[in-house]
Amino acid sequence: MQPGAPLLRLEKICKDYAPVEGGAAVPVLREVDLELRAGQSLAIMGPSGSGKSTLLQIIGTLDRPSSGAVWLNGRDLAQLSLDQLAAVRSTEIGFVFQAHYLLPQCTVWENVLVPSLAFPQGARGVEERASSLLRRVGLGERLHHHPGQLSGGERQRVAVARALINRPSLLLADEPTGSLDFAAAQSLVQLLLELNHEEKVTLVVATHSRELAARLEETRVLRDGRLTSSPTGA
Ligand SMILES: Nc1ncnc2c1ncn2[C@@H]1O[C@H](COP(=O)(O)OP(=O)(O)OP(=O)(O)O)[C@@H](O)[C@H]1O
Ligand SMILES: [Mg+2]
Repeated sequence: MQPGAPLLRLEKICKDYAPVEGGAAVPVLREVDLELRAGQSLAIMGPSGSGKSTLLQIIGTLDRPSSGAVWLNGRDLAQLSLDQLAAVRSTEIGFVFQAHYLLPQCTVWENVLVPSLAFPQGARGVEERASSLLRRVGLGERLHHHPGQLSGGERQRVAVARALINRPSLLLADEPTGSLDFAAAQSLVQLLLELNHEEKVTLVVATHSRELAARLEETRVLRDGRLTSSPTGA
C-alpha cells in the first residue's frame, strides 16, 4: 500500500437488490463514497432500512456492490478471486454483529480460536493471542464456560475477542450494542474504543444510538441511499 493511502476507499458504490417475483428492483445505495484512514473510528447512522447493514456487508466482502469499487489496503476487491476474498475476509476484517453468533457447544476459549483454524500455518502464537484478548475483554477467568453461561454483554465481549484473533486492520460492528442494556452497551463501546487505540484497528460501527456514535471520531448518516459527506450531515 502507498504511504498515506487510505485503508479503505469506496468509490461510487451502488447496490440494488434484484426484484422479487416481478416486483421492482430495490435501490439501496446510490454512489456512496468513503475514505477511512488506518486507526480511524466511524459511526454510520440512518433510519431502519437505509442500508447500514448492506454497506457493512459490502465493505466486509460478504456482498458485492452492483457497481462502484471497494479498495482495501490498496487492493481493488473486484479483482480478487473468491479464495483471495475469503482470505481477506478472514485475516484483514473482523465482524461483530447484534447477535453474537457464538457456537453454543464450544467454550469461550474455543469460540475465540475458531477464526484461526482456517490458517494452521499461521497458528503460532494464536493461543497466547486468545488468552491475552480474553483477559483484555475481562473474561480471563471464564475460558472454559460455554456461551449459555455468560450474560449478553459478556457474550458480546467474546465476539469482540473472536473478531480480533487474526489481527484484522478493520473491525466492522453492526449494532453491536443493540441487544444490551444501557450499562452493558456503554461498557462494550468503551472496550471497542480502547481496542481501536491499542490494536490500531480501524472501527466502523452501524448504530441507532446517538450516545454511541458521539463517542467515535466521526459520524456519517445514510439517507435515501446516500452517505452524508460531512460529520454534520451537510
Ligand atoms: N437480501 C435482500 N434482498 C432484498 N432486499 C434486501 C435484502 N437485504 C436488505 N434488503 C433491503 O435493503 C434495504 C436496506 O436494508 P439494510 O438491512 O441494509 O438496512 P439497515 O439500515 O441496516 O436497517 P436496520 O437499521 O433496520 O438494521 C431495506 O429496504 C431492505 O429491505
Ligand atoms: Mg441493519
